[in-house]
Amino acid sequence: MSDSNIKPLRWGILATGAIARTFARALPASKNGELWAVASRSTESAAAFAAEFGASKSYGSYAELLNDPEVDAIYIATPHPMHFEWIVKCAEAGKHILCEKPLTLNSAEASRAVEAARAKGVALMEAFMYRCHPQTTQIAELVSSGALGKIKAIEATFSFQAQPNPASRLFALELGGGGILDVGCYVASFSRLVAGAANGKTFAEPLELKALGVLGTTGADLYSVAVARFEGDIVAQLQTGVNLNGGSHCRIVGENATLRVPSPFFCSPVQGSDETILYLERGGGQVEEIYVPFDRPLYAFEADAMASMVATGEVLYPAMGPDDALGNMKMLDTWRAAIGLSYPGERGENAATVKVKENVMRTRELRGVVNEAGAPKAVSQIVLGTMLEGAIEPYSHGLALFDDFFERGGTCFDTAHVYGGGMGERVLGRWLKSRGVRDEVTLIVKGAHPPNCSPDGMRHQLQESLDRLGIESGDIYMLHRDNLQIPIGEWVEALNEGLTKGLYRAYGGSNWSLERLSEANEYARSHGLQGFSSASNNFSLARMVKPVWGGCISSSDAESRVWFEQTQTALFSWSSQARGFFARADRDFTSDAELVRSWYSDDNFERLARAQKLADERGVSTVVVAAAYVLAQPFPIFALIGPRSVSETRDSFEALGLELSPQEIRWLNLED
Ligand SMILES: NC(=O)c1ccc[n+]([C@@H]2O[C@H](COP(=O)([O-])OP(=O)(O)OC[C@H]3O[C@@H](n4cnc5c(N)ncnc54)[C@H](OP(=O)(O)O)[C@@H]3O)[C@@H](O)[C@H]2O)c1
Repeated sequence: MSDSNIKPLRWGILATGAIARTFARALPASKNGELWAVASRSTESAAAFAAEFGASKSYGSYAELLNDPEVDAIYIATPHPMHFEWIVKCAEAGKHILCEKPLTLNSAEASRAVEAARAKGVALMEAFMYRCHPQTTQIAELVSSGALGKIKAIEATFSFQAQPNPASRLFALELGGGGILDVGCYVASFSRLVAGAANGKTFAEPLELKALGVLGTTGADLYSVAVARFEGDIVAQLQTGVNLNGGSHCRIVGENATLRVPSPFFCSPVQGSDETILYLERGGGQVEEIYVPFDRPLYAFEADAMASMVATGEVLYPAMGPDDALGNMKMLDTWRAAIGLSYPGERGENAATVKVKENVMRTRELRGVVNEAGAPKAVSQIVLGTMLEGAIEPYSHGLALFDDFFERGGTCFDTAHVYGGGMGERVLGRWLKSRGVRDEVTLIVKGAHPPNCSPDGMRHQLQESLDRLGIESGDIYMLHRDNLQIPIGEWVEALNEGLTKGLYRAYGGSNWSLERLSEANEYARSHGLQGFSSASNNFSLARMVKPVWGGCISSSDAESRVWFEQTQTALFSWSSQARGFFARADRDFTSDAELVRSWYSDDNFERLARAQKLADERGVSTVVVAAAYVLAQPFPIFALIGPRSVSETRDSFEALGLELSPQEIRWLNLED
């Protein structure tokens, strides 16, 4: 789309510091942007800024700017720790967002910020101005066209020598101080762009990163060097710092030539001209000078790239769109972790939370599960499993995943003594404490997994689980397995002992057969005790042909469904998507041994075909149909999910929007 066809954006600037002034100064020279309003924490500061730069409106609070219906896009120019909160609030207000770098403090926040923008349908760009300048486009083209030959190494430096001042945003930890976040983000984004261009992609993620750095008295990094490796045997050497006189420059070393970039980030012109310069150095001292003309100030380009993104819905390459920004934040997380740098807000208890989404969850009540006042708790039909090693550590990731789930309306968590050697319970316990939501959520506490599948093993593990979770009692205690050597009466007596002690309010069994559940409930009835109110077996549209692992039980068959309906026992279904059958099954019998062994059968492929047909008719994905089938059963059924990221959680929630009729349910399961 040409510049002249793009609708100009009316900008609101949020905060009135140094970079806000730079942006406001450049905006009149943009092709498709005009300054409309400015907001500051101080009315005077906003008014002075508006007068100086010609804004029509000025506001003494950021919230007022978000409420201005004339504002199309907001430029967030606060210190880094406030970016996340204001991205989310701008998205909720329906404003397009250009946010200063780094997008957020860490990738966990970034993932939720990206999610918020996606959910509200607004454009989100990280304000890497150099990515919007023609010089950067030219660099990417030189790399991808092969002008340098195969790319082998990238060198990128961005640092400056500020005198340490613990109160300044450059050094104060609570203001996100330190070199990696302030300017390391540039060199990281440069290396990812170049490695991407060399590999035929818009950007690339490092396969490996190592770093050393020097921390100052505040704990923020003064200077640091990282080395990273990308696909295609490309290595990068990255130097940064806020107390290091290294300047800014880059070199890209290819097999046939080296590209030297004297001003990679500010894109400074050759003196007295409207052109920047690049040097293409070939062997034998040959140097080709490449001049790149430009027609606007640096920051005007990013305002126009944003207008283009809003108009087309596409990121104007190589500007920094949401997925690229998220990858950059992950790289910075790794870099910081390598030198032991973390920020107060991401260490845990005081971490900020913001509401990302409205509560959209469907809930069901469950026998015996009540809050402190004795009222039934609404248990969300989607239950977050906590076997999430790798996705909930460091803690900032756990926070993001749990906050996101809870804010979508998820209120039920499934824990187990064995998950991650207790890590899942500890991280969830920390989250519960920091958010103060214990009474609003339903906790499944599982234990007594073999070889400790006995009443004694259960008592011991339960106490350990409660301690790790930091709570006095769970809601539902779930035996992780049955042990047929234990007479049923012993289990029921032991489980009622925990009820009497107030350690939980209801109990169930995971991978328990209907026979044993019935036997247990008969024993309980005849002895005046409480029986099993729930089970956690597999339930899915696809039939489990062979157990996924030893001792696991599926309840998808007709007899089980009748039993659950008649007894109204709650079923917490694991692998309700048949472990990827509806997403990945392709009759390629060599692809995934577990998928083939446990789920491949002619009848399951027929179910898959019907789910695909219905999905096409309803305009949703096949996995949404398969999940909706599970959630529509005529008994209290709940689906356990194990997302690795907030975007995976979003996918799982889609099923809640699809209603299936009883007739469709029968047809999907080949009963009609
Ligand atoms: N792209 C670039 O070239 C570039 C260059 C420099 C900085 N940046 C980025 O822009 C952001 C702001 O940097 P800056 O140099 O403009 O910082 P700055 O001069 O300190 O200004 C930050 C502004 O944020 C607002 N603010 C809100 N809460 C604050 C708090 N607790 N403490 C201090 N200020 C607070 C203030 O505006 P009000 O008082 O009006 O509310 C303040 O003037 C940073 O994330 C930085 O990485 C980008």
